[in-house]
Amino acid sequence: MQRFTGRRVLITGAGSGIGRATTYRLLAEGAAVVAVDVNEAGLRGTAEHAADSGTVERLTTAVLDISDEQSVRTQVAAAVQALGGLDVLVNAAGILRSSHTHETGLEFWNTLVKVNLTGTFLMTREALPALLASGSGVVVNFSSTSASFAHPYMAAYAATKGGIQSFTHAIAQEYSKQGLRAVCVAPGSIDSGMTNNPGLPADADFSLLAKLAPALGAGFAGPETVAGVIAMLASEDGAFITGTEIRIDGGTHM
Ligand SMILES: NC(=O)c1ccc[n+]([C@@H]2O[C@H](COP(=O)([O-])OP(=O)(O)OC[C@H]3O[C@@H](n4cnc5c(N)ncnc54)[C@H](O)[C@@H]3O)[C@@H](O)[C@H]2O)c1
Repeated sequence: MQRFTGRRVLITGAGSGIGRATTYRLLAEGAAVVAVDVNEAGLRGTAEHAADSGTVERLTTAVLDISDEQSVRTQVAAAVQALGGLDVLVNAAGILRSSHTHETGLEFWNTLVKVNLTGTFLMTREALPALLASGSGVVVNFSSTSASFAHPYMAAYAATKGGIQSFTHAIAQEYSKQGLRAVCVAPGSIDSGMTNNPGLPADADFSLLAKLAPALGAGFAGPETVAGVIAMLASEDGAFITGTEIRIDGGTHM
């Protein structure tokens, strides 16, 4: 399938996990991609794979901390210039931290909000003029099953993901008449840097966490599973989908 030929895409969190898998998938389907991440080594790994698969001439990488307002301004403007416009923004960058809520410090809370929620807002705000100029712009944001279902020890993370869902609904409505679509993916149990190191409290009650096991398969799905759904949502195949979440959790929550 070549659903993204001629489409111009900006992807955050592209140095690992789902953002990286989405970069590969959209490049493979013909997109021109600017891939950003705070982790330079991760971006290098993403570019090396693109070189091996012969798509690297359509890939530009740049180091960016999505929670830094001035850097976001500069890098989004540079991406729009490099691509000659913008059709799709994929806000995959995010962090997970876990703790007992009664032990959660303000700095811990503020860090999660700043990266996940404020970072998604800043990227979207700066990209919106170019996405609206496209006439068929798409924003794909990252919620989580934790936004709608109980995930113990992840209250702060879950709150940021719930905020991202609400933000996405609001912009989907606000800009629908200008052809913009905004959707969330809500993954659960995807094998990535994040789930390999969730930082659970040492005394976590695993009988609570056992409820997060998927009904399908033996455990985690690969990040390419989510990338395939994002490709559908951001392409013409998703043209009638906006202001909603697509849950990708192997039936954990039915
Ligand atoms: N893996 C899962 O099961 C799962 C479940 C629900 C939601 N998610 C969401 O999926 C998205 C992708 O996560 P993943 O699972 O691929 O994890 P990951 O840790 O493999 O990838 C996240 C990427 O975001 C980057 N990042 C972190 N902070 C950043 C910042 N300030 N600026 C720019 N980049 C930054 C990291 O460097 C990393 O490359 C996240 O938003 C996450 O919350 C993942």
